[in-house]
Amino acid sequence: MYRTHTCGELRKSDIGKEVTLAGWLQTIRKFGSINFVDLRDRYGITQLLLGEELNKQLDENPLGREFVLQVKGIVTERSNKNANLPTGDIEIKVTSFSILNKSATPPFTIQDDTDGGDDVRMKYRYLDLRRNAVKKNLELRYTVNRAARNYLHENNFMDLETPFLIKSTPEGARDFVVPSRMNAGQFYALPQSPQTFKQLLMVSGYDRYFQIVKCFRDEDLRADRQPEFTQIDCEMSFVEQEDILNMFEGMIKYIFKQVKGIDYTEKVERMSWEDAMWHYGNDKPDIRFGMKICNLKFPSHTFPHQQNISSLINDVNFKVFDDAETVVAIAVPASSEMTRKEIDALTEWVKRPQIGMKGLVYIKYNIDGTLKSSVDKFYHEDKLKKIAEATNANPGDLILILAGAEERTRKAISELRLETGKNKGFRKDDEFKLLWVLDFPLFEYAEDENRWVARHHPFTAPKPDHIEVMINNDPTIADAAEYLKHPYAGIKANAYDMVLNGNEIGGGSIRIFQRGLQEKMFDALGMTKEEALHKFGFLLGAFEYGAPPHGGIAFGFDRLCSILGGSESIRDFIAFPKNNSGRDVMLDAPGTIDEKQLNELSIKLDVQKN
Ligand code: AMO
Repeated sequence: MYRTHTCGELRKSDIGKEVTLAGWLQTIRKFGSINFVDLRDRYGITQLLLGEELNKQLDENPLGREFVLQVKGIVTERSNKNANLPTGDIEIKVTSFSILNKSATPPFTIQDDTDGGDDVRMKYRYLDLRRNAVKKNLELRYTVNRAARNYLHENNFMDLETPFLIKSTPEGARDFVVPSRMNAGQFYALPQSPQTFKQLLMVSGYDRYFQIVKCFRDEDLRADRQPEFTQIDCEMSFVEQEDILNMFEGMIKYIFKQVKGIDYTEKVERMSWEDAMWHYGNDKPDIRFGMKICNLKFPSHTFPHQQNISSLINDVNFKVFDDAETVVAIAVPASSEMTRKEIDALTEWVKRPQIGMKGLVYIKYNIDGTLKSSVDKFYHEDKLKKIAEATNANPGDLILILAGAEERTRKAISELRLETGKNKGFRKDDEFKLLWVLDFPLFEYAEDENRWVARHHPFTAPKPDHIEVMINNDPTIADAAEYLKHPYAGIKANAYDMVLNGNEIGGGSIRIFQRGLQEKMFDALGMTKEEALHKFGFLLGAFEYGAPPHGGIAFGFDRLCSILGGSESIRDFIAFPKNNSGRDVMLDAPGTIDEKQLNELSIKLDVQKN
């Protein structure tokens, strides 16, 4: 037997027991003629005491970091206890040891505070995974996985696998493709999600499906995006939007309880997409804090239901505001005493290319009620006060104002709100706030492609009272249609996103289940009948055979784990992640393949080397 106990297990109550442990040598310290070793395994660290009598063996077989050891010994009370370690009351007085395997000197120290940079840790990921910090993340991931499975199992969901080698039908992201040897010149694609398969399973009568499944998307990477990532993918039949919201609100709350011990008893807040854009400037607002946007000026067609208050800033010949399409403000609480230097730094921050603003206007609403601004030349104090009031500022607050083109400025104020919110400590890792964002537009205009695309995906159903609009192309019912001169612009989808602390952790929709409406949808996206049949004939065909009403959702499993674990990067929660260029630096993949493989696949390369 290699071991009687793990390295995380022994306590005071075990004193006197004879035990055998196995694990990795984390550190060795010499004190006079005796040696102390920290022995580590997945479960923890136990201190070993190697007395004088073992020195001869140690001299003949010197130990080193990361050696795999097996030790026999007696559990004894430690004179010098370590309250930070669960095993800190005891140590093992070693009677014999053997080296099960040696280790080369590791390229970085395998401890919580490692000296290894990102690249080297990714290259030796199998060593990085030994570190407590990374191990804790993977443990959390497994706990989330188990909790999701339990909940879904209890609610009658069936875990069904769907294929990875499918057909390329790019919508949204690019597909990863796989050449077929047996079908020369033809390619499979890896699924961006099991979307159409889960819908087919509904047609087949498996009315509650789930899968914790890999998805593949060839898109630009960010901290919260990987080319292969995992979804908790779900679908249900005979449901309306409300049923789905309740079921999956329940799942996330269950996960909160199981993983973090949090009783999230309140109902998850709900917000329309339009309100999210109006108040927060993005469709995944962090509602842990206020600082809502004050829309001082905006193009009326973007928010046709909102009141225009641009008179507050007009009529003073301030060109920056006069020439701007949009002027938006936020009030930062208790910040009127921000120094010139700090405000300059914020100004530089909004001027960075990622934010893209030309400058930042501020108004200090001083504690004594007086106002001072960077635009005093244009605005008298009473006018400044009116603006301050419109932003809901209190004395002591600092008002920040951005002006420019609608889309960019709205995005910029949203980023500025998040940045200042973070600096003020309003975005706490241990506070969790869920939000449903509802009533998304069904379509959005892709400027670069000069065409309408599905905002969620082409299988999403319009709101019931917008279906007629779609079928008849009747622009009068569609609110925003006029300004965009497109009959589809104002059509809202039966789609929903779940947002946690400003991150989109899940998204889904009620689906189209009638062939006619699905064809209409493809048509609206500019697909010819032939193209639609070629790409999605199987789905249209299935809709001929009694498709039930259905809908579903998919959660970003990696994202959910990273937020619950208090990290911004999903990489920390994936055992073997890719870097920002989509490379696995440990495997050195992607890589070339040899001529023989290429020939078998009937592929000739024409790679332009830079
Ligand atoms: P969607 O594309 O919104 O929906 O994806 C669902 C959730 O998956 C996560 N996610 C990602 N996580 C890491 N890396 C990525 N590259 C990445 N892309 C998405 C997000 C997102 O909310 N089939 C639909 C779901 C449905 O309609 O049921 C779908 O895939 O957290």
